[in-house]
Amino acid sequence: MNLNEFKKKAAWAALNYISPGAIVGIGTGSTVFHFIEALSTIKHLISGVVSSSNASTILLKNKGISNILHLNSFHSLEVYIDSADEINNNMQMIKGGGGALTKEKIIAAVSKKFICIIDETKKVNILGSFPLPIEIIPIASSFIENEIIKLGGKPKIRKNVITEHGNIILDIHNLNISDPIAIEKKISLLPGVVTVGLFALRGADIILMGTKNSVKIIEK
Ligand code: A5P
Repeated sequence: MNLNEFKKKAAWAALNYISPGAIVGIGTGSTVFHFIEALSTIKHLISGVVSSSNASTILLKNKGISNILHLNSFHSLEVYIDSADEINNNMQMIKGGGGALTKEKIIAAVSKKFICIIDETKKVNILGSFPLPIEIIPIASSFIENEIIKLGGKPKIRKNVITEHGNIILDIHNLNISDPIAIEKKISLLPGVVTVGLFALRGADIILMGTKNSVKIIEK
């Protein structure tokens, strides 16, 4: 099983969802890397992009996609292309493995359509085998760790990572996420939490899943 090939297939299939003149939201990660490569082949057809991380901005520039726009210039975006660390049957996701969850969540919120490009290993029945990342204000770490333990999770500070916003990331292991919306709301309300990497309230609209023989399209 060549996961990189599956990611690539899904990423190239996302080109079908880019209309001429569109401003495209760009996620972060190895699957999105393939999408940026694909998008560069039609860069003359789009109006610009909004990037979710410095890493993606560098890749976009390297591929000659230079019209990188500021999100505050728009009230809404037509389409957002990103991957996930896990996605369930209700199109709810865990994201943030790459640490870019805060901008990813903001761009997802303003986008009319979220297209999630994945290899088939990302599709799960219940979220939570992948540790749930949360971005937090450093001074709140002890408090938040305690609250997470009360919820039944095992928090671990991600070593040597400072986010683009100067914060730290807690990865929560062993958390029961059978009700993703409830958990997203509960953790979001803790003082000091910037972003929960659960995308349940605003999940994906379409999944493009690369498999051995094809790209499976799953719609809401
Ligand atoms: C980045 O912060 C994440 O949300 C990514 O979407 C996620 O980690 C998927 O990454 P890969 O495409 O590298 O698997």
